[in-house]
Parts: sequence; C-alpha cells; structure tokens
Amino acid sequence: MSRYFHIIIARLLLCCAVSGPTLAQSPAPNTSTRNEPILPLFAVEGLDNRKVSLGEKLFHDPLLSRDQKRSCASCHDIAKGGADKEAFSYGYGNQESLYNSPTILNLEFNYYVFWRGNMHLLDKSMDRALMNPKTMAMDWDTLLERLKKHPSYPDKFKVIYSDAISVDNVRDAVNEYQRSLVSLNAPFDQWLKGDDEALSAQELRGYQSFKTLGCISCHNGKNVGGTLLMQFGVYSNEAIQNERDQGRFLLTGNERDKYTFRVPSLRNVALTAPYFHDGRATTLEGAVEIMAQIQLGRTLSAQETQDIVAFLHTLTGQMPEVNYD
Ligand code: HEC
Ligand code: HEC
Repeated sequence: MSRYFHIIIARLLLCCAVSGPTLAQSPAPNTSTRNEPILPLFAVEGLDNRKVSLGEKLFHDPLLSRDQKRSCASCHDIAKGGADKEAFSYGYGNQESLYNSPTILNLEFNYYVFWRGNMHLLDKSMDRALMNPKTMAMDWDTLLERLKKHPSYPDKFKVIYSDAISVDNVRDAVNEYQRSLVSLNAPFDQWLKGDDEALSAQELRGYQSFKTLGCISCHNGKNVGGTLLMQFGVYSNEAIQNERDQGRFLLTGNERDKYTFRVPSLRNVALTAPYFHDGRATTLEGAVEIMAQIQLGRTLSAQETQDIVAFLHTLTGQMPEVNYD
C-alpha cells in the first residue's frame, strides 16, 4: 500500500511543482528567473566570514580524528563535488562506513540531512561523523584539549567567540563553513536566469524528459532534491530490499518507512559517482536507468537516458575555492 501512497504524493507534488504558485513565486530578490520547478542557486547571505574561514580550517584538519589521519574533507572533498569516490567511505582503522558519502555542497538548501533524513538542521550534525567509531572515533573532551593546546586555534576562536573554544563554537564554525559551500553558475542556472544559449538542444530535451517522466516530482526545487523522503523502489521491491539497510525504518520503526531514504540533491551529481546510499551504480547512466525502472516503472530508450544524463551534467556548478591557513 505504502508505495502507492508515496507515488500518489509524488504525483501531487509534481502538479504543484509544475503549475502551483509556491515555487515559482520564490526567486531571490531582484532576479527574474524562468517559471520552472527548479530554481537557481545564489550565495548564502549573512554569513560571518571569520567563522567561515575558521570552520574551513577545522574541516580540513586531521586533528579532528582520533588517529589524526582523516579530516572531514577526506570523505567530503570540496574540489571534487563534496563527496569521495568510494562506494562506502573508509574511516577510522580503515573501517567501511554505513553509507556512500553524500555531497556536502549546497547543504543549506536541503530540508533533510543524512540518507535516512535523520535531522533537519546542521546543528549537531558534525557529531555524527566525529563520534562515530567507524568514521573519526573522536570524543569532545579529547578534541577540545587538542584545540586548546594548538599554536593557532586558541587565538582564532578568541577573536570570534567571547567564550573561546567550546563544543558549541566548534560546531558553529564548521556549520557556518558548510553553509557557505554553494556551487554557483551551473549552465542550468544560467539558462534558468534567461540565457538561451546556456543549454544545447540535447540538454534541453533531457530536461524535458526529466519533467515529463516524473523525475521532477521527487527531484525539484533549488537543490533538485533534498526535500523529500521516498521509498527506494516504488515500483520494484524485490530488486531493492536487502538485509544491509532498511533506510529510515531503522530510525523510526514505522513499517511505512521501510526502504525509505532522503531524496538526494542532483546538483553536481556528474562529479559524485558512485551513486545511491550504497554506491550500487557506478555510472550516471546506470543510476538514471535504475531510477526510471524502480521509481517510475519505465524502461528508457538509450536516447532518453543519454539526454537525461546530458541534462544532469548541466547541474555542475563552480566548486567553492578552498584556501585556509
Ligand atoms: C570516513 C568518511 C567520512 C568522514 C571522515 C566524514 N564524513 Fe560526513 N558523511 C560520511 C557519510 C558516509 C555520510 C552519510 C551518513 C548518513 O547518511 O547516515 C556523511 C554525511 C555527512 C553530512 C550530511 C550530508 C547530507 O546532505 O546528508 C554532513 C553535514 C557531514 N557528513 C559532515 C561531516 C563533517 C563536518 C565531518 C568532519 C567532522 C565529516 N562529515 C566527516 C562520511 C564521512
Ligand atoms: C519517487 C521519488 C523519485 C523519483 C520519481 C525519482 N527519484 Fe531519483 N532518487 C530518489 C531517491 C529516494 C533516491 C535515493 C535512493 C537511495 O540511494 O536510497 C534517488 C537517487 C537518485 C540518484 C542518485 C543520486 C546520488 O547522489 O546518489 C540519481 C542520479 C537520480 N535519483 C536520478 C533520477 C532520475 C533521472 C529520475 C527520473 C528517471 C529519478 N531520479 C526519479 C527518489 C526519486
């Protein structure tokens, strides 16, 4: 039952996304964009640059892991789309992590964070990697001690925070940095902002298929995803169900959450192979075919797949620069 329920909701959302006023009425101030169910990205405003640069340093510092071998950037490489190339990332003691590492670019525009949609806000999200025995295996006491003894961190914190180094302040700086990571000026965004030359005929055809097939019902908005929880395998359960992971069900215990995952953003997806929570698809073509089959009950022609893949490449924006001292 529940999978039909999901698809009905998805179809309803599709109607709203395509014809409803909500999404179409919310472009950033002073910018005219096409009336489409995907919106262009703009830089996040109101960030404190001092926090961003402190957060950037922390994010790239192996000091944050127990054996000082891995930084956050080991699995979330900013220059390469904010993820890594492994099906499952390797963490502390070379242990395999639970999931494929998702991109941390454009996090600001996700409604759900983590594959199971564990939380809405970045807030304490860094604790998940930091404390996880398979990821960084750290604890706050050890980390605070290390930071307090460090030659430059104490001064850097003092300039920004009156209470200097604390758990909240470390989280705050890292989160501010993560919020700043927006991949601007993707060809698709240039097209959304009115540049007719920004997309080729094939890319446009791919976008058209993306909408008419119904991909857009789950992957829409600024992040082309990131806002919904959906069953992985709406049309085909057998191919999907495996013992390794039952998705959100493991978090809530609700029968209807079985095999449900956060719909990921498709921004920069061309850079973040392999795909899906378990990295089961090694190519974008493969991922698109699986999606069509199990989420929409459709087998795509080779041409349709190629067109959609061409469209997905237009969602690659400029990678944020990395420079910290
Ligand atoms: C060993 C690899 C690894 C390291 C190191 C690592 N992460 Fe992750 N990260 C992952 C994986 C795997 C997930 C997915 C976990 C899940 O969904 O439950 C993830 C998910 C995330 C997410 C959620 C993104 C989203 O859109 O759902 C954030 C935010 C994040 N990590 C931040 C960090 C920060 C900050 C650090 C450093 C303190 C860090 N990560 C270190 C592998 C890693
Ligand atoms: C009913 C909702 C739904 C529809 C419709 C849908 N998707 Fe997805 N998509 C998801 C979910 C959920 C995931 C994450 C699945 C997982 O890994 O557990 C996903 C993942 C993906 C991924 C992998 C992203 C990554 O970073 O790993 C790609 C690519 C993708 N979808 C493309 C498409 C395309 C193209 C279509 C149309 C042919 C489509 N999707 C239709 C829900 C949907």
